[in-house]
Amino acid sequence: MNHLVAPSILAADFANLKRDIELINNSEADWVHVDIMDGQFVPNISFGFPVIKAIKKHSKKPLDVHLMIVEPDRYLKDFKDAGASIITVHLEACPNLHRTIQHIKELGCKAGVALNPHSPVSLLADIISDLDLVLIMSVNPGFGGQRFIEHTYKKLDDINKLSKQLNPGLLIEVDGGVDTNNASKLIAAGAQVLVAGSSVFSANNPTEAITYLKNPVKFP
Ligand code: DX5
Ligand code: ZN
Repeated sequence: MNHLVAPSILAADFANLKRDIELINNSEADWVHVDIMDGQFVPNISFGFPVIKAIKKHSKKPLDVHLMIVEPDRYLKDFKDAGASIITVHLEACPNLHRTIQHIKELGCKAGVALNPHSPVSLLADIISDLDLVLIMSVNPGFGGQRFIEHTYKKLDDINKLSKQLNPGLLIEVDGGVDTNNASKLIAAGAQVLVAGSSVFSANNPTEAITYLKNPVKFP
């Protein structure tokens, strides 16, 4: 499949949120990645429902909501109502992950599980066939602008093997430190959704940065 690109709104200019969403609307981006941080699961707080609703109001692209929060079950319906199309929870935050995934699907959203850098792909063996998406964290969650962890390539290999065996339709997403230098290699390694925050919004021309991430092999 052709890979997807999901610019992370965390790196946008929040004083010009509508402008930055329109930039995404008018770009080759496929989804808008929305990072929710609670100050507990990760040492940072991002934003909540009013901001997601504002993003939804202007976005023409599906909202890919990445929950870096404890007890996500408490809020799944609220995220759906705020406009989420894809809801991804962290394996490390869900003691009853199977129930959480069923709940997301019952709400009519695509269901994803995110893995922190220290969590092996093998932990997904008994849930992977229920998932629409797996998000491999290529930095420790909590902040934009961090350095890409090279071990991610090995995890992409592992998740590709598991997915071929148990769920060929699974989408594999990579999040953290993705930029124009590693995009082609990530796609070659089997990444199907590239999340990119600072490499898009800190670029001189964010629209061009999205074009590059979408078509990396066409560029030198
Ligand atoms: C990190 C978030 C990422 C973040 C990526 O915890 O999950 O989605 O926005 O930002 P960059 O692309 O700057 O690493
Ligand atoms: Zn994210």
